Amino acid sequence: MTTHDIAVIPGDGIGLEVTPAALEVARAAGRRHGFELRLTEFDWSCERYLREGSMMPADGLERLRGFDAVFLGAVGFPGVPDHVSLWGLLIPIRRAFRQYVNLRPVRLFDGIEAPVRATDIDLVVVRENTEGEYSEIGGRMNRGFPDEMAVQEAVFTRTGVTRVLDYAFGLAGRRRGYLTSATKSNGIVHTLPFWDELVQERAAEHPGVRWDQEHIDALCAKLVLEPGRFDVIVGSNLFGDILSDLAAAVTGSIGIAPSANLNPEREYPSMFEPVHGSAPDIAGQGVANPIGAIWSAAMMLDHLGHGEAAEQIVAAIATVLAKGDVRTRDLGGTAGTDEFTQAVLALLV
Ligand code: NAI
Ligand code: MG
Repeated sequence: MTTHDIAVIPGDGIGLEVTPAALEVARAAGRRHGFELRLTEFDWSCERYLREGSMMPADGLERLRGFDAVFLGAVGFPGVPDHVSLWGLLIPIRRAFRQYVNLRPVRLFDGIEAPVRATDIDLVVVRENTEGEYSEIGGRMNRGFPDEMAVQEAVFTRTGVTRVLDYAFGLAGRRRGYLTSATKSNGIVHTLPFWDELVQERAAEHPGVRWDQEHIDALCAKLVLEPGRFDVIVGSNLFGDILSDLAAAVTGSIGIAPSANLNPEREYPSMFEPVHGSAPDIAGQGVANPIGAIWSAAMMLDHLGHGEAAEQIVAAIATVLAKGDVRTRDLGGTAGTDEFTQAVLALLV
């Protein structure tokens, strides 16, 4: 039997509730498909930060390095600034393990009423995950004076942009063959014209893919008005982040959105996590929607070579949603995290 070593970081808030649900489903799929997940849990979180002064130990990245994948719930806790939780754990993992593709599929499942008029939504946001606007270059000056200032430089490299574009064009080629690039080269006059040039350059290498580009503001409007027309949308770190929350909301709830932080060359472990945060407003109540986490676990299995198991998990989610009697509160139902998870598990035995 194949065994995969998974580092598990449940994190904070509802991360502690949806992570066990997702891994239970992934293990059930493993029993059916002849593989095993060996889970090693790490308590790295904002709670740890409050207790010990850091989100993870100094050798945290070294400890993760040997795993086949990392599964993360969510981090964030009232009282701990969000940039601490993000830059103390998530971003170091994404960068040290060169997880430059952030893959965020979006689907409108049968049985869910979308807040917009739409039927067929099936798209993937590919977000650049290691550079762009999320940069360490910049600083603050003259703190507390009237001339106080802040500068933050966006960083777009030929290597960084090219590799994420190649991934996105390749993915579009395996899907419906259509790519949309998010830009804003009318207002941001250095980095985004460079991005646009590279899109054109990479498009020439992928002649089978139809492509266009949209300014980010217009693209947001189109995602609401006609989400069904998109297949793969590629964007910089910031644009991709915003677009994926928007697209997830258009399909009913941020609670269903999954994501993968991929190191496509597999030199380092990739990391899988729901798009949502730690949701302090509902944490501890057992009502969080586990779909985003379960779907992220399915993406992890796909990455580990178990595509069929992954498909079955997503199909089980779709079946439960289509039946309609078991759904969580964010989707207008009354089921808790556990009840929904059991309904998915019942289809996987
Ligand atoms: P959030 O995603 O935690 O919550 C936004 C809203 O969506 C809340 O009303 C919440 O109840 C609801 N929601 C989220 N996930 C849900 C689920 N699975 N089921 C049902 N409802 C769900 O985003 P927010 O409020 O902006 O951030 C809360 C904390 O999470 C902050 O500390 C933030 O920094 C952190 N965060 C962490 C992320 C991560 O670990 N990757 C990503 C986003 C936020
Ligand atoms: Mg986000």
